[in-house]
Amino acid sequence: MQHFAPPHSHVVSVDDMDKAWIDEIFALTSRIKTTFLCGPDSPEWKNFSTRLQNRMLFTLFYEPSTRTRFSFETAMQYLGGMVTTTEAARMFSSAAKGEKLCDTIHTCARYGIGRSAIVLRHHERGSAQEAASLEVCPIINAGDGDGEHPTQALLDMFTILEQFSDQTRKTLTLAGDLKNGRTVHSLIKLAIKMGMVGHFQLVAPQGLELPQEYLNDITQAGLGYVTADELNPEIVMQSDVIYMTRTQKERMVLGWLRKVATKLHILPQRTGAIYALTPRLAEHLKSSAMIMHPLPRNEELPVELDHLPQARYFDQVENGLYVRMALLLHIFGM
Ligand code: NCD
Repeated sequence: MQHFAPPHSHVVSVDDMDKAWIDEIFALTSRIKTTFLCGPDSPEWKNFSTRLQNRMLFTLFYEPSTRTRFSFETAMQYLGGMVTTTEAARMFSSAAKGEKLCDTIHTCARYGIGRSAIVLRHHERGSAQEAASLEVCPIINAGDGDGEHPTQALLDMFTILEQFSDQTRKTLTLAGDLKNGRTVHSLIKLAIKMGMVGHFQLVAPQGLELPQEYLNDITQAGLGYVTADELNPEIVMQSDVIYMTRTQKERMVLGWLRKVATKLHILPQRTGAIYALTPRLAEHLKSSAMIMHPLPRNEELPVELDHLPQARYFDQVENGLYVRMALLLHIFGM
């Protein structure tokens, strides 16, 4: 079996990352981005394009995905590596026959003959940690239930730092389902770690507020926050970054969902979700502000905003490719 040096061969939680390591990943990401924007004839591209030859990436997805899976798979292939994938593992892997996650991880590691890594998306919080603790090959957490999504946070932060390279601390607004949205959980931890946020504005409908553990992280870091149950002009005006997220309907018990949807109006109504960034609200954005979203979006982020110079969600998508290339090079020690 391949031996790999802890602590950074797995990417499970932002908690495990230190700032020096993140800076290194971002420096490599910038180099990759510059190289790729120069085009495939540049000598450096040729150098990158064979780095992961004979390496195998297993993408093991027990939940739906578009960007996370595609970006890891294209990243691996741009670097000359190979990919084996299951995109609906709950249905089409042996999980449907009752196989435990640990047996699937052992299986991939054996086929990977010491030259593989696994990108795991799973519906249970803690599953990536469980897989990593087997220590049979590097594990990248691509989302574990309502827990974390550390690689999304890295690409979000890379996109923010591309725009805000100055040292002044920013106001970060997080809006939507802050209870179940794993991207905001990881982003809060990372923003604290990078020291780039001075103040948080947390906007969530009743019942979907940010869990106490993340509020504790914010206060322990000596940072302030305000909470609100809907977006308003003042919150929008104060935001340097406004990070919208969708309601994670799939994480809610059906009966509860129906009750909340009808009584509290948190699900999209005919007129749109209550916390939507409407074109009228968006008029209050600073010209330097960034509208972000991990995607997929629902009614909380109307397509009418896509033409705004502040709209940065497709930049996030593109940066996801470069950040994940950097992560793969790192994981494979190349
Ligand atoms: C997010 C996720 O899966 O947590 N999607 C993504 O990876 N970009 C956000 C979401 O599903 O709402």
